[in-house]
Amino acid sequence: MLEIINKIAAELLNQTALRPKIGIVLGSGLGGLTTEINIEREIKYADIEGFPVSTVSGHGGSLIFGTLNNVEVVAMNGRFHYYEGYDMKQVTLPIRVMKQMGVQHLILSNAAGGMNPDYNVGDLVLITDHLNMFMTNPLIGKNDDRLGPRFPDMGEVYSKALINLAAKTAEGLGISYKKGVYVGVSGPCYETPAEYKMYRILGGDCVGMSTVPEAIVARHSNMNVLAFSIITDLGIEGKTTYITHEDVIAAAKKGEDKMTQLVKQILPQIAEVLSTAEKTKTNR
Ligand code: HPA
Repeated sequence: MLEIINKIAAELLNQTALRPKIGIVLGSGLGGLTTEINIEREIKYADIEGFPVSTVSGHGGSLIFGTLNNVEVVAMNGRFHYYEGYDMKQVTLPIRVMKQMGVQHLILSNAAGGMNPDYNVGDLVLITDHLNMFMTNPLIGKNDDRLGPRFPDMGEVYSKALINLAAKTAEGLGISYKKGVYVGVSGPCYETPAEYKMYRILGGDCVGMSTVPEAIVARHSNMNVLAFSIITDLGIEGKTTYITHEDVIAAAKKGEDKMTQLVKQILPQIAEVLSTAEKTKTNR
């Protein structure tokens, strides 16, 4: 697998002069951030040899190299979901490729259903932890020790330092946020009332169909992860409404601006930390 990852990474780097250390994955209805990126190169997934081939027509997506607030980033506009029929290795391949290209910090975003009674539609949630309810795991199979350890620690999947940075930055911008545990499920069904209730009892605050596989692989490869949910619907007894994918996309748009502004302000601060680390390394 490493050979394939290396080949894809090398071919992508051949197409851009940028060497981003920060990767961003934009979830359903959250692609608006791309309009803020000063795009240097945009490559359709369909044109990346070795990337999963989309089975759903019109379900494209692209990898964007550019600068956002003067910081080099590589952003995935659209992701591969398990419910589309990709296997877990395909779902997480882009994360492996990002790592191989030099990405050290990964920012994940998603649209999610809220189960915490304090949540409202449009809320921005800083994910503090997750419950993997996919009933599978992207690390199943032979482990390549060059990619990461056989039994990776998951004690701090979502970097506390990055969560604190995001929280402080949000406060500075006057952006309200919640914190919570994300439950990752396969989908494609939304939850039944009993399922929402169960996930709440198990300790979840919000639920969605992505992020967990990517976060697991990112930690396996020792990247720092920061993840956001935008609450698009509520799975709270008495407040649950009929939902469609269109509703979810429309609701995500409501929270999108908050997330975009926050990510924009966080990036230079992460870049600063990265450059200090580089300097310390060269001075040693
Ligand atoms: N459940 C699962 N995935 C989702 C939801 C939900 O309620 N809302 C947006 N993505």
